[in-house]
Order: sequence, then C-alpha cells, then structure tokens
Amino acid sequence: MSTLRRTEIASLLKDANINEDVLVKGWVRAFRANRFIALNDGSAFDNVQVVVDFENFDEALLKQISFHSCISVKGKIVESQGSGQSIEIIAEEIEVLGGADSDAYPLQPKKQTLEYLREKAQFRMRTNTFSAVFRIRHAIAYAVNKFYHDHGFYYMHTPIITGSDAEGAGEMFHVTTFKPDTAPRDEDGAVDYKKDFFGKETNLTVSGQLQAEIGALSMGKVYTFGPTFRAENSNTSRHLAEFWMIEPEVAFNDINDNMDLAESFSKYLINYILDNYPSDLAFLEKRILDMEKQLPKEKRRAMPLIETLRFVVDNDFERITYTDAVNLVRSSKPFKKGKFEYDLDWGKDLQAEHERWLVEKKFKKPVIVVDYPKDIKAFYMRANEDGKTVAAMDVLFPGIGEVIGGSQREERHDLLLARMKEMDVSEEELSWYLDLRKFGGCPHAGFGMGFERMVLFITGMSNIRDVIPFPRTPGNAEF
Ligand code: 4AD
Ligand code: MG
Repeated sequence: MSTLRRTEIASLLKDANINEDVLVKGWVRAFRANRFIALNDGSAFDNVQVVVDFENFDEALLKQISFHSCISVKGKIVESQGSGQSIEIIAEEIEVLGGADSDAYPLQPKKQTLEYLREKAQFRMRTNTFSAVFRIRHAIAYAVNKFYHDHGFYYMHTPIITGSDAEGAGEMFHVTTFKPDTAPRDEDGAVDYKKDFFGKETNLTVSGQLQAEIGALSMGKVYTFGPTFRAENSNTSRHLAEFWMIEPEVAFNDINDNMDLAESFSKYLINYILDNYPSDLAFLEKRILDMEKQLPKEKRRAMPLIETLRFVVDNDFERITYTDAVNLVRSSKPFKKGKFEYDLDWGKDLQAEHERWLVEKKFKKPVIVVDYPKDIKAFYMRANEDGKTVAAMDVLFPGIGEVIGGSQREERHDLLLARMKEMDVSEEELSWYLDLRKFGGCPHAGFGMGFERMVLFITGMSNIRDVIPFPRTPGNAEF
C-alpha cells in the first residue's frame, strides 16, 4: 500500500474500480458532520467524497482537517450511498500535508465577496468560482491555439519591448534602465535615450499587430497571442493595464473576410467551452442565478449563461455600418428622451452605453460595426472610397461591449505615408512598416481580440479583475 501512486481526482471520477485501493491528495472543500470530506485537487470541477469513520482516527488529526487544509488520503473505493456522486472513498489512512488553522485562515466556508477574494489572490483559486473561471481561461487559451493551428496559421511571438506605438494613443509604459534623477541629459536638457539600454526610447507593447503584418506578408496567415500593456487611466470593469490579446493577421483578406474570421473564431471558442466544460459552466450559471435573485428584474440577465452562449453560436452576428449605428442610436427612445449620458453625432466615437443599447436592446446578439470615420481610428486602417471612412470593424458583445477591434490595412504606400504625416506618426521609426508596402505588398487584414473580455463573456463574470489571476489596474500591482 505504501507504494500506491497518487490518482488525480478527474481520472478517478472518470473510471474507478470498486474495491480498489487509491491514494488521493487535495484541498478540503468541506468537512461535514466530522464524517464527509469533499476533496478537490483542481483536476476537475467535481470533488470526490471521502468518508471518515472517526472512531478509526486520532481526534487531534481530525481537528487539523478544516476548510482548505491539504490532505493525503489512502482508502478503498466504494459505490456511493449518497446522491450526486457515483463513488466515494472510505478513508483508511489520512495525512495532513498542510493544515489551515480555521480561525486564522482568511477564507471561511461561506459566501465571500469577489472584492474581498481579489485581495486574497493567494487563496482565491481554491474556491469553486475561481477554479472554474481559471480552468475555463486555460481552456479558451488552448482553443485559441487549436483553432489557428487547425486553420493553417502560424503562432508568431511579437516583442514585448518595442520602440513603436501601434495604436498611436500614447498610453504606454516606458522601459528604461535610467533612474529618474540621474538620467543623462543632452545639450537641451532632455533625457538622452541614446545612452539608454537599447540606445533609443522604448515601451511595453500595446499591440503585436505591426510586427504580425511582417509575418502575414511572408508566411500568409499568422497570429500573436501575448500580453499587451496600456497605461490608460480607465478604472472600469472592462479595462486592465496588462491584458492578453490575440491578433490574427492574414494576407489577401479584405474587411469582409476579416469579419467572417472574427465571427467563426469567436463561435469556435464558445463552442469549445460548451462542449468540454459543462460542469464549470453549470456552476457559474447557477452562481449568477442565485446572485440575481436579490436584483430587480430589469437588472438581471436576459437569458441564463449557457443559453446566452448557445444563442450566440447559433445565430449570425448582426453587421451594420457605423453610419447606420449612429442613425439607429439617434432615433432610439433613450436617445430622444435624453437617457444617454453622452451625445452622439456622426464623427464621434460610439460610447459604451450606445454600443450596449445596439447589442442588448436593438439586436439582442453580437453586432459587428464597420466603416468608422477615419479621424477616430488608427493611422494604418485602409481608406474607403468615400474619403471619410476607413475599413475598420469592432465586434460588440452583450454585457461586455467591444471584444474585438480590427481593420483591413492600408496597403497603398503613398496613402499610408500621407496618413502617417497627417497623424504625426514617425516615418523614420516605422520605415520597416512602410517597406512592407514598397516591396511585395498586398491587401491584408487582421484584428485583436481582448482575451480577458472573451473570458468575461464565456464565464459570465462581471469584472475583468476576476478573470485574470493577478490583475494590474491603476494603483494596483499586488502579487
Ligand atoms: O481595439 P484595440 O485597441 O485594437 C488593437 O490594438 C489593434 N492593433 C488590434 C489589431 O487589429 N491587431 O484592442 C483590441 C482589443 C479590444 O477590442 C479589447 O477587447 C481589448 O483589445 N482591449 C482591452 N482589454 C482589456 N483592457 C484594456 N485596457 C483593453 N484595451 C483593449
Ligand atoms: Mg478598439
């Protein structure tokens, strides 16, 4: 018996042999009546029940078995007497690997707020909610790679430290080895970055797109999937300073192909989780339904989580132009009654409240808005014939708003150069980018999906800080 190897709970629950001896290890999710331990080792959503006959164990040992303590159990598999599980383990030997003094332990076996758990990120993944969220996060990341690999894309690692500002929004974290007070200065008194580590000013990337275009114009279809950084001071439930982005870039695709790819990719990710993580989804759905009982009807979700996900994969996304979107919002009831906080005219960016009205009230499904005014979009987007708009697209999701932003790229050298000059984008810094238009260029398109926003949508969580293990937001870089 001492040579028994540990069995993971996931595989035990899949196929167990009655009467066999097993060794399992994990964290105690519950210890009821000094007799039933719900044990979880993270391998699956479900726990295995361990039955303890207290007469066979030392009282001092049993005392150490409390909420979230870590134990090792040797025992025999039997058919379960209780409902809701097929097997259980009759404990023969128990070892406490790590006690969790129940008075001092920051988590308690009762409902804790998500805000409180955020401060205890060293423990929150042990809860049902967060282990479900992070299992699904992992699975979506896997599905991202599987989708692109199966479709003949190459995974390209774009740099995290870069000299360029892809979005031109200037919301960048600077990377330097200089100390603020002792940085060398040039004759004009400005910091002399020529003497810095890279011999130039550098920052953390806001997007891997520009480099991904290099990949697309040689390997055909590529995607990046990595961390991106934005120093925007947006303290919202949708923004992180460090988030992950998936950016496919495809040679010969136009804006319509780009929309098709965005839609089929989104649906694939959702289907993957529906097919492979039903227990985690069912738990998250029930959690939301329980929580919403306290809310007035109009604040509740229109549909339960799993139904929402199925609805999204079973229906075509709505596709409308920016101009139509503006007209729809302007002729809507809430707009006419002055219910929106922000005004909207042609040329202004759609605000989150306008986007949510389009998605949740007007169309009740994901909406792709295309052909935005050129002045509110980045320099690299392809100019449309009308001279006013660019071939840009945003994919908006219910409850979240923008999950994907992308465009067809301006492949015409002279037009791109003129646009860069107009928008004050450094020609010198991006000479390599212009080269892609001078030598062997072609029409191409791509987009960026905010990974955490997709995880938010699929898990039904409501704050982006709860779908990344260690959120970075203004004023917070704990852990
Ligand atoms: O719309 P964005 O800024 O697009 C780009 O960066 C393009 N270069 C992408 C491309 O065409 N390859 O960002 C893309 C997506 C957004 O739609 C949003 O989902 C997410 O990234 N995003 C954020 N997610 C969390 N926190 C933030 N601060 C985010 N900013 C953008
Ligand atoms: Mg965007």
